[in-house]
Amino acid sequence: MQRSFSMKSELEHLAIIMDGNGRWAKSRGLQRTKGHEKGAEVIRDITEYCSNHPTLQTLTLYAFSTENWKRPKLEVDFLMRLLDKYLANELETYCKCNVRFETIGDINHLSSSLQKRIETTKEATKNHNKLTQILALNYGSRDEITRAVNKVLDQNLVVTEENINKMLDTPYSDVDLIIRTSGEQRLSNFLLWQSSYSEFYFTSTLWPDFTPIELDDIIAKFYDRDRTFGGL
Ligand code: IPE
Ligand code: IPE
Ligand code: MG
Repeated sequence: MQRSFSMKSELEHLAIIMDGNGRWAKSRGLQRTKGHEKGAEVIRDITEYCSNHPTLQTLTLYAFSTENWKRPKLEVDFLMRLLDKYLANELETYCKCNVRFETIGDINHLSSSLQKRIETTKEATKNHNKLTQILALNYGSRDEITRAVNKVLDQNLVVTEENINKMLDTPYSDVDLIIRTSGEQRLSNFLLWQSSYSEFYFTSTLWPDFTPIELDDIIAKFYDRDRTFGGL
């Protein structure tokens, strides 16, 4: 049978579940929102590091899940405002580091002003080619796969792995390495399809404390792993 998994062992696509902002703040007697603010700063450092990495092409970051709407409205509203502020501030970083900005997830449910900010940032960075940073916003894998299958059917195509793959929000590549911070060891509805042959790394470091030095160390460990993709 034709297989759609890429056989490469090079690190091209890294994805991170940025978890632990709330606990970071709580452990300091601060509001959860302070953890999110610090977490946004860490995104800049990690993106800069990734843009300088010799083989990385894509960095996908889980920023807001389809389940995160269950949080108190005040926190959700804060996260949306923070995202808007982050994109406005980080345009400079995207330009300095030659990073293209993309999103996955159903952004139609975000406010129209935020959607506009997302579109203008995508437009302003579309020719950058050192790294693609993909923010997962209102993202859930089950939602993504369901939307993809519906697109296949709408276009009267046969439901095949290849056609589903094409209709996903990330037709770019399978994920080579998924890191989750904060000690939790689950995917929480993140990249279920794309992670079929990913390597996983869980660190107890809370996202606001995560550094390029730790990332460098994790990447070194990734290269020690033997990836056989079902072969020998
Ligand atoms: C991750 O940190 C950020 C988002 C999910 C938006 P959390 O907010 O989940 O932090 P913890 O897990 O409560 O510590
Ligand atoms: C996953 O973290 C989503 C993001 C990091 C954006 P959560 O904190 O929402 O996940 P659970 O509730 O621990 O599974
Ligand atoms: Mg969490």
